[in-house]
Amino acid sequence: MTSSAHLPTLAVLISGSGSNLQAIIDAVDSGRLAARIAVVASNRKAAYGLERAEAAGIPTRYHPLKPYRDAGKDRNQYDADLAALLAEYAPDWVVLAGWMHIFSHAFLQHYPNRIVNLHPALPGQFPGAHAIDDALAAFQRGEVDHTGVMVHLVPDERVDEGPVLATRAVPILPGDTHDTLAARIHATEHDLLVETLSQLVRSSVSKE
Ligand code: GAR
Repeated sequence: MTSSAHLPTLAVLISGSGSNLQAIIDAVDSGRLAARIAVVASNRKAAYGLERAEAAGIPTRYHPLKPYRDAGKDRNQYDADLAALLAEYAPDWVVLAGWMHIFSHAFLQHYPNRIVNLHPALPGQFPGAHAIDDALAAFQRGEVDHTGVMVHLVPDERVDEGPVLATRAVPILPGDTHDTLAARIHATEHDLLVETLSQLVRSSVSKE
């Protein structure tokens, strides 16, 4: 059996509930995902995902932007310090699981082709923080009959864009509300994110 010390390591970045983090934790526990979560970092202290990580015995770090803003420091400094903080854990992959900041080059340069973002829409559709509501509104205007989820690499500062690793369509049904559509999207995300990460870490191990 492989010792956990030799498994590919993940840094998971969150800003909120962390239901996708929980899916990753569960997949690691069950053996579906052959990786180790080295650290969970959040820009929000109240992010419930931090509690999920602590309950699972995973190191957590809180890295707020406000002190940087208050001190007149720019985003590059925040990003560089986050990269330095994560470097303590030497992650192989950085997984953005509901991380609501856009990274500058000061962060991105440290993890070329090793940052994975999850987004609740299909490529080229509904970027940003309100993808589920934007898709529902487009459905109500008769413009789309489905939305979806995607997992992609983050090579640069574009929002929710980059080489696509996996997508899955999610139907929008008549009568859907934010909550019913969000529940369907999140269930899809949990499976697609874990599946994509499993393939990614398997292919990176086999290339070593
Ligand atoms: C997820 O739906 C994720 O796709 C989305 O934030 C949610 C986090 O949920 N990310 C984005 O919108 C990125 N633009 P969670 O905290 O329950 O995992």
